[in-house]
Amino acid sequence: MSSTFGRLFRITTFGESHGPALGVIVDGCPPRLPLTAADIQGQLNRRRPGQGTLTTDRDEKDELEFLSGLENGLTLGSPIAMMVRNKDQRPRDYAGTRDIPRPSHADFTTMAKFGIQAGSGGGRASARETWARVAGGAIAEKWLADQYGVGIVAWVESVGTEGPAVVDVQTVTRAQVDATEIRCPDQALAARMSDLVQAARADQDSVGGVVTCVCRGLPAGWGEPVFDKMEALLAGAMLSIPATKGFEIGSGFAGTRMRGSEHNDMFVAKGQGLGTETNRSGGTQGGISNGEPVVLRVAFKPPATIGKPQETVDFSGSATTLEARGRHDPCVVPRAVPIVEAMAALVLADLALIQKTR
Ligand SMILES: Cc1cc2nc3c(=O)[nH]c(=O)nc-3n(C[C@H](O)[C@H](O)[C@H](O)COP(=O)(O)O)c2cc1C
Repeated sequence: MSSTFGRLFRITTFGESHGPALGVIVDGCPPRLPLTAADIQGQLNRRRPGQGTLTTDRDEKDELEFLSGLENGLTLGSPIAMMVRNKDQRPRDYAGTRDIPRPSHADFTTMAKFGIQAGSGGGRASARETWARVAGGAIAEKWLADQYGVGIVAWVESVGTEGPAVVDVQTVTRAQVDATEIRCPDQALAARMSDLVQAARADQDSVGGVVTCVCRGLPAGWGEPVFDKMEALLAGAMLSIPATKGFEIGSGFAGTRMRGSEHNDMFVAKGQGLGTETNRSGGTQGGISNGEPVVLRVAFKPPATIGKPQETVDFSGSATTLEARGRHDPCVVPRAVPIVEAMAALVLADLALIQKTR
């Protein structure tokens, strides 16, 4: 029943998508960190539904309420509880389809596991839960920036068959990412990606995509050498985001097509120490950060709930046609960008604290 993530910097999330509220408890955030709602709300706004024409038009303002852990703009070192009330639920969109498990959604497996599920909206499987991760992740990110100057930027690398984007991982900024609604800093490609999403929406269908994330400014030495390798924790974190189907770090699967002589990252003198000339390792070697940017990619499937009629069966096995109603994302990647950043921040803050204990 794990709704808890992290070891020292730990979040516990709660709430169903169509329940009264959802939220997060952040435990282990160091004390005396300057923190305001504005530090968090910016990322929540980037995640929220109802942003323009490429996302669901469920209209949640997603305004954050602090319940504990903060006084006079400083963290107290005690658990930080944050909550948001759900306002724009429409359970009627789910009426009549409760007997039909949505193909490739979590209805069938949730029933197989619990024998009961939230009446509407996907319950804990819904991406509504990711509000809580983004809220917790924004605090991790603030702490990493304050203590270490770490910066995290994610963007949409591809949508369907459009991509990959050409992006400089050393310099790309959130402002460049947010310059387009699809959140791809490669502007010409961004327009084609948006057209693809609009076409899928018009067909009552959906499309997938890839989000790339870079984490810059980490020192060498974060991450553990065996089970808690940095890439292992990042992979687990990313694959816990709903609709994810793949994870790569550095050269990823493409690296399998190279020889060692092409793939190896040569050491060079950099600043006071060593760096590498290339970064096919993706910033981690032996599970430990090497001081180069951590670069990872996450694959998101086309979201399952589509308006197009689907021939399937209901829970009793009788043939039926499902035409999903309601407001759904035709493509999740623009909203997934801050979620990927949040999960990266949570992993890195945890590893930084673990390293501090040595
Ligand atoms: C930002 C975001 C928005 C999502 N929106 C939808 C949606 O509108 N409709 C849908 O069917 N799935 C959506 N999903 C994906 C589902 O939550 C997910 O596919 C479902 O819980 C099943 O889990 P799985 O795909 O990881 O196996 C979204 C995911 C993310 C990250």
